[in-house]
Amino acid sequence: MWSKNSSLDSGVLTLAGIPAAQLAKDFGTPTFFLDEDAFRARATSWQQGLQNEFGPHAGEVFYAAKSFICTAVAQWIADIGIGIDVCTGGELAVALAGGIDPKKIEVHGNNKSVSEIDRAVSVGVKTIVIDSLYEIERVAAAAKKYKVTQAVLIRLTPGIEAHTHESISTAHEDVKFGFSIASGAAWVAVQEIAKHPELELRGVHSHIGSQIFGTEPFEIAAERLIGFLAKYRDEYARELPELDLGGGYGIAYVAGEVTVEPRDVLPALRAAVEKNCNVHSLAIPSISIEPGRNIVGPTMFTLYEVGTVKDVVLEDSSIRKYVSVDGGMSDNARTALYGAEYTAVIAQRKSSAPLTQTRIVGKHCETGDIIIRDIQMPSDVVPGDLIATPATGAYGRSMASNYNHVPRPPVVAVKDGKARVIVRRENEADLLALDVKE
Ligand code: LLP
Repeated sequence: MWSKNSSLDSGVLTLAGIPAAQLAKDFGTPTFFLDEDAFRARATSWQQGLQNEFGPHAGEVFYAAKSFICTAVAQWIADIGIGIDVCTGGELAVALAGGIDPKKIEVHGNNKSVSEIDRAVSVGVKTIVIDSLYEIERVAAAAKKYKVTQAVLIRLTPGIEAHTHESISTAHEDVKFGFSIASGAAWVAVQEIAKHPELELRGVHSHIGSQIFGTEPFEIAAERLIGFLAKYRDEYARELPELDLGGGYGIAYVAGEVTVEPRDVLPALRAAVEKNCNVHSLAIPSISIEPGRNIVGPTMFTLYEVGTVKDVVLEDSSIRKYVSVDGGMSDNARTALYGAEYTAVIAQRKSSAPLTQTRIVGKHCETGDIIIRDIQMPSDVVPGDLIATPATGAYGRSMASNYNHVPRPPVVAVKDGKARVIVRRENEADLLALDVKE
């Protein structure tokens, strides 16, 4: 759960050698602390993993920006040399601000606006992943305007029930994303794209969900997508050169879970790709993937300060300790939204007090403002203690809100014993900045 440069010796959490108490003193709480080396190492290991498994058939690792992006991280991505997947004009703007080569950018989204498409085509992004028939016309119109041929992929729904929360599972049939293979919708998209000389269909894509463990859902997706590529070859006497199998690789949030590493999944993907290409006598296409959570998730923890502690007597007369911290659902919406589980530690001191049933909650005005629903914590937690929750890097800061006009926390990158702000804390002026006074 903890990033590679974190340690928890004798009850004191340190990151790259800096103790939590020092981090809190220098940057305040709540704050997301990002282990920069761990981020770079995780991104690089996916890139190397893809290269090792697929050799000349390795495409790109497109880091999924939605999991967490800011200009500095976009700069790291450019520096590491992987690609990026953006799904809005805003994410595209940050990728460009970070100096990412447009030829390393892939554009997603089920409802890209005309102006988002215009910007993407005008800057020369590598690929636009087509998600509706309307979009075919819109991308073709933009390509015509800029006198370019735009490379596109088609997002397919391969009809797979990946075992994950319903809101983050994306490739069964009844979803807003992509074109169903089974219903024939995907084939209609192929035919429509073929009518537009401004579009070059490069291949197909699927993303089957998020926080997935095991390889089987990916293998089934590969089989169905390659079957589709074979149908294309049979019909058009041309092989499509690209296959993008999306992201979704799971990470550990609590004890007993194990973060998926490239070596756990890529060999099975390669075997599935080879086998199915053999079955259909297809050349192996260039294989791309889009991990987001798996790269950034394990690299951050959130540090909070405890403000109040309350013992609440439950119906069965047991006591639940409510520990309120200075953040909450505005910096971690995942518990409230998906019933996600996290763990936590007291970060600045050792405690040998007996463990007690505890709920870690935030400062927002609603009961559902829970960071950890059930955790056994030392019973001597007091105001002023620092609490750290690991593995908050993905969909933490990126889904943060200003609910209750709580300023969103900063992100501090830590490397080699030095810490620096890469996203600053919001302040009262930021909160008022958009209001128009009457
Ligand atoms: N590619 C596409 C097309 C996606 O839609 C996503 C995530 C990814 C890649 C990256 O998936 P990852 O490797 O991060 O699992 N907010 C939810 C997760 C939503 C994921 C949406 N799409 C959460 O907090 O669990």
